[in-house]
Amino acid sequence: MTAQPMSAVTASGWQAPRPAAERNYPMNCWWVAAFADEVTQALLGRWICDTPVLLYRKEDGTAVAMEDRCPHRSAPLHLGCRRGDNVECGYHGFTFAPDGACVRVPSMKAPPAALWIRTFPVVEDHPFLWVYLGDPAKIDDVPPPHRLEWATDPSFAIEYGRIDINANYMLLKENVLDLTHFGFVHAKSFKITDWVDPPRLTGAGEVCGYHQSFSASPLPSIFAEPLGVPPGTPYDRENYGSFVTPALQIGAVDLIEPGKKEVTGRFRISHATTPIDGRSMHYFWVGGRDYGTSRDEMAAFRAITEIGFAEDETMIEAVQAMQDRDPRPTEQLEKSVKADGPGVQARRIVQRWMDRETA
Ligand code: FES
Ligand SMILES: [Fe+2]
Repeated sequence: MTAQPMSAVTASGWQAPRPAAERNYPMNCWWVAAFADEVTQALLGRWICDTPVLLYRKEDGTAVAMEDRCPHRSAPLHLGCRRGDNVECGYHGFTFAPDGACVRVPSMKAPPAALWIRTFPVVEDHPFLWVYLGDPAKIDDVPPPHRLEWATDPSFAIEYGRIDINANYMLLKENVLDLTHFGFVHAKSFKITDWVDPPRLTGAGEVCGYHQSFSASPLPSIFAEPLGVPPGTPYDRENYGSFVTPALQIGAVDLIEPGKKEVTGRFRISHATTPIDGRSMHYFWVGGRDYGTSRDEMAAFRAITEIGFAEDETMIEAVQAMQDRDPRPTEQLEKSVKADGPGVQARRIVQRWMDRETA
């Protein structure tokens, strides 16, 4: 067995699971761990940023995140059981409280005080449960979890889902920052074929994004049908999105009747990509709109979204497989064009997150 190189220990005694040179995701960042309704009083084990994480709820409903690896002999704690608010390891019964203290070792009268397990801060904000796995001393230096205000706006209906994709999380980030892929990857599903020109690059500082204006363009059926206008009707669309943090990308489409100023329909989408490790991710998507909000119309939206995002999954996994198999360095082989502007910016921003972590 070859020993893995260890990452440096920070001044506060914290250590990343993997050295910064071997990853492109920052640890000092809030990541989406789960949809809040995935986390119940049952024990849920999930890998996040190369860290085994156990998620569950206490009896009062409060969510808990702790390391999903027993400090005795490495059993996954999610294979154990909940005893009140505590978790009992399924191997030899060591029991841990929600604050990480070991409260019981069945073979001893009292557990050693030095025996404990790491716990992680969580923030619940519909529909997400966010977790911070990084250096506790740096938590106040990073942006707090971004709120999806429209997700709780009563005039909106939302749908959401999770796809686990075998690809580095940045491949999905770049996918949703370059929507010129619509006419090819989603030609048969979303049928948005007028996204041809590169968008305007927007954003400042640690946020970057795109903005594309469509003027009196035939409205694709995916927007037209729930809006109640015939597909192909000339309509204005303002389509914009932002890379908010390495964890989250948000996008928006405002639909405007030509010649009018007010927005007649708002569509919002967010893409939270959480690395499982360097070659796989949990992709949490949330879509919402303030038109066509009936249950049947939203079911149709969910169905077409799942088809479209499966198309992205197939392409992104193929790209990852190509990069993995070809021994030549990807950065030397890939050529960027103007439409890659937001994606290239996003890579630079992520690099700055990494630099700050190792400074
Ligand atoms: S591995 Fe958990 S109690 Fe032994
Ligand atoms: Fe796509």
